[in-house]
Amino acid sequence: MAEIAVLGYGTVGSGVVEVLRTNQRSIDKRAMQPIRVRRVLDLRDFPGSGIERILTKDFNDILNDNDITAVVETMGGVVPAYDFVKKLLLRGKSVVTSNKELVAKHGAELLSIAREKNINFLFEASVGGGIPIIRSLNSSLTADEITEISGILNGTTNYILTEMTQKGRGFDEVLKEAQNLGYAEKNPDADVLGYDTCRKIAILISLAIGQQADFEDIFTEGITKITQNDIEYAKMLDCVIKLTANARIIENGVYARVSPALISKNHPLSMVNDVFNAIFVNGNVIGDVMFYGRGAGKLPTASAVVADVVACVRSLNRNLMHFWSSEKRRIFPIEDNICSKLVRFSCENGAQKDKITSEVSNIFGGVSLIALPGNFDEYAFVSEEMRERDLDEKLKLLIKSGTAKEILSKIRIEGAREK
Ligand code: NDP
Ligand code: HSE
Repeated sequence: MAEIAVLGYGTVGSGVVEVLRTNQRSIDKRAMQPIRVRRVLDLRDFPGSGIERILTKDFNDILNDNDITAVVETMGGVVPAYDFVKKLLLRGKSVVTSNKELVAKHGAELLSIAREKNINFLFEASVGGGIPIIRSLNSSLTADEITEISGILNGTTNYILTEMTQKGRGFDEVLKEAQNLGYAEKNPDADVLGYDTCRKIAILISLAIGQQADFEDIFTEGITKITQNDIEYAKMLDCVIKLTANARIIENGVYARVSPALISKNHPLSMVNDVFNAIFVNGNVIGDVMFYGRGAGKLPTASAVVADVVACVRSLNRNLMHFWSSEKRRIFPIEDNICSKLVRFSCENGAQKDKITSEVSNIFGGVSLIALPGNFDEYAFVSEEMRERDLDEKLKLLIKSGTAKEILSKIRIEGAREK
């Protein structure tokens, strides 16, 4: 029998206990022995939950229990999760976590402790909820040099943008709904400002190259500035707006960014809606592979956590996970990135469209202006592909020339592969 403990009985932690109960028979069969939850740690009491007998508020009850061989960490955050997880690994207990903040910051060190101790530190649920992307990078795509990883990595923001686009609903109202559905982080700024997506792409890059990609170095922009006007312009261009991550890996560094992007309706990512995530991986021999599934939520996430628990139980005294070294791989500054953008700017009310077109074209080369019906004080255009620093210089000229009063938004165009 394998005895385990769960740290944090919130959305994911309670899901783990539920999945282990619901699918007990098939899980035990696959694990080749019964798996039982011996302890649950949380700060609160959960009357009527059925876990009262095994609930503790003292971490030492788990750390010092020699019968517990694997521990699930679903508390979130770095403090005290890092301290707890490190202590557990040093005591020779395998750890499974859904905590991307912990993995992005301390993954290299925790993996190396697990390797030294010949146990496991597994984190499938930390990226893409229920999507088996970590296991695929770790064991299925090992013949390839990974050249690009991109996609939608956050369920909350994808849910919000889908509702705003398809039903015209307001940001705040939909965010509240995503929180009630258990999709959002404890502090939802992590979702809507893009930090959660940033940590996830940093984990994927680190695993793909076996070196540390620091999330602090990755340019990150969230969705809080996206308005219904941006969404309407996107529709005029047969596109939708999604929060995407993109990483292009070359020998001496990585071009990486997290930001909203316009995606053509012909691109498969445009059809990834609600809480779903999708991840493209390009390998130099396999080509493109796409992963799709629910990116957040109690049971899909718990499914990934429990699968990791089964892997730990089946692999006692056998380290499974690729190791990534703490040696840093350079992330290039965003200004070096080449992309094309939808630029929206305000101008004098009633300014002549022909005159503005010619002035914008003088700076950007031939462009066609688009305008929302009945709107006479702003225009938009799609720039050619260029380095971001060059685009910003040209926008300064547009303001200086008096053609544009203010740049209202600049949204990257996804799809044409970023260089
Ligand atoms: P919740 O806030 O729902 O659950 C966390 C639980 O841990 C809460 O019950 C919390 O108690 C408890 N807790 C926090 N600190 C401590 C502590 N020091 N000691 C004991 N218990 C503690 O979060 P989620 O379940 O949503 O998320 C957990 C982790 O999984 C996070 O890292 C998150 O990013 C990740 N994740 C979440 C997904 C989702 O869909 N929700 C999907 C994939 C990953 P209290 O409420 O009193 O603070
Ligand atoms: N808050 C995260 C999301 C949870 O919405 O994607 C899953 O990592």
